[in-house]
Amino acid sequence: MKLLSVVGARPNFIKIAPFIKAVNKHQSDNLTPNIEHLLVHTGQHYDSKMSDVFFQHLGIPEPDYNLDIGSGSHAYQTGQTMIEFEKVLLKENPDLVIVVGDVNSTIACSLTAVKLGIKIAHIEAGLRSFDRSMPEEINRVLTDAISDFLFVTEKSGMDNLIREGVSSEKIFFVGNLMIDSLISSLPLIDESKILSNLKINPKEYIVLTLHRPSNVDDYEKLKQIVDLINVISEKKKVIFPIHPRTSKNLEQFNLYNELNNSNAHFVEPLGYLDFIKLVKESFIVLTDSGGIQEETTFLGVPCITLRNTTERPVTVEIGTNYLVGEDISKVYDYIKLIFEGKNKIGSIPELWDGNSANRVLNILINNL
Ligand code: UD1
Ligand code: UDP
Repeated sequence: MKLLSVVGARPNFIKIAPFIKAVNKHQSDNLTPNIEHLLVHTGQHYDSKMSDVFFQHLGIPEPDYNLDIGSGSHAYQTGQTMIEFEKVLLKENPDLVIVVGDVNSTIACSLTAVKLGIKIAHIEAGLRSFDRSMPEEINRVLTDAISDFLFVTEKSGMDNLIREGVSSEKIFFVGNLMIDSLISSLPLIDESKILSNLKINPKEYIVLTLHRPSNVDDYEKLKQIVDLINVISEKKKVIFPIHPRTSKNLEQFNLYNELNNSNAHFVEPLGYLDFIKLVKESFIVLTDSGGIQEETTFLGVPCITLRNTTERPVTVEIGTNYLVGEDISKVYDYIKLIFEGKNKIGSIPELWDGNSANRVLNILINNL
């Protein structure tokens, strides 16, 4: 059985790591069938702080191929990835291509595979924000439409896929591989020295991450968020590991100068272990990330999501997540609630138990 997994951007590395571990264990235990596994990195993310550090922290082996695609427009990134990935597929002819998440690398490689008649497994299928102005939503809908194995993290994903007409035989509720990574990394996360390096104490700071184009590509929106940070950081220290898209825009819009409160601390994107430690010990997380909504729910940390929609409704329904919506001033209401200790406690969604990657591998072995 020849499997080929694809990664491209930061959240992909975290989702593929446990699957590779499961394959490695299968191989070292000499189980049948014999599995050959190849890893392709498209190079969508390439800075060492957006890529290499995750390979190191999560023990991901060197990719067998790096397509070195880099940054560019959606069409450039998708088209160039398809051209380069097709060469790999023609050479390697795998039985199955495994893609994760919702980034441009995900749809580009899925589309390349399906056109060559190669089967596709999509890890994290079925999530829907129902907002088609999000590039990720287009990537999710299209990838799911051409996948043969759809591995779902939360029940809403099953409902969405069934409603879109996907045959139930292709849909598998396996839980969350991102949480597999978190659980298996906990001992190393607890060793992280990030709090002492940043000279901060548990529960005395707020973590902020931002990178969605709807928040950071538009001057007015980003200015609103900068004003928000200025107000919030008067109450609590804000630690802001800055995504490269966001730092470029803060510079271009001349907004770094507007961040006038010394209680707001900018740091470069953090490695996985340091970042999760920072989140785990934080008072609140303020974010527009997809994955961080899930990690905070798992860790029981209050999360305020600076978006109108979420494709991960379970984090709001049973987790610790609050969705801000159109009116950004809602953030203050949620912060007040949390300061008063009246926030929801949350529980861990079904099958977010650290065994999702094993479920994926077993299903593939039994069905491919
Ligand atoms: C991408 C994904 C998004 C995901 C995010 C995770 C798409 C459409 N978007 O967004 O879904 O949530 O990754 O972080 O696939 N850049 C660097 N160094 C890097 C990578 C990017 O400087 O290593 C800069 C470049 O200026 C680039 C910009 O960041 O143009 C955006 O990168 P890109 O991969 O296009 O999208 P992200 O915003 O990172
Ligand atoms: N993350 C990290 N360092 C950071 C910011 C995020 O390790 O400085 C991790 C985070 O814990 C999560 C993943 O990156 O596992 C989420 O990636 P991102 O927010 O870029 O993408 P999204 O999930 O929105 O697609």
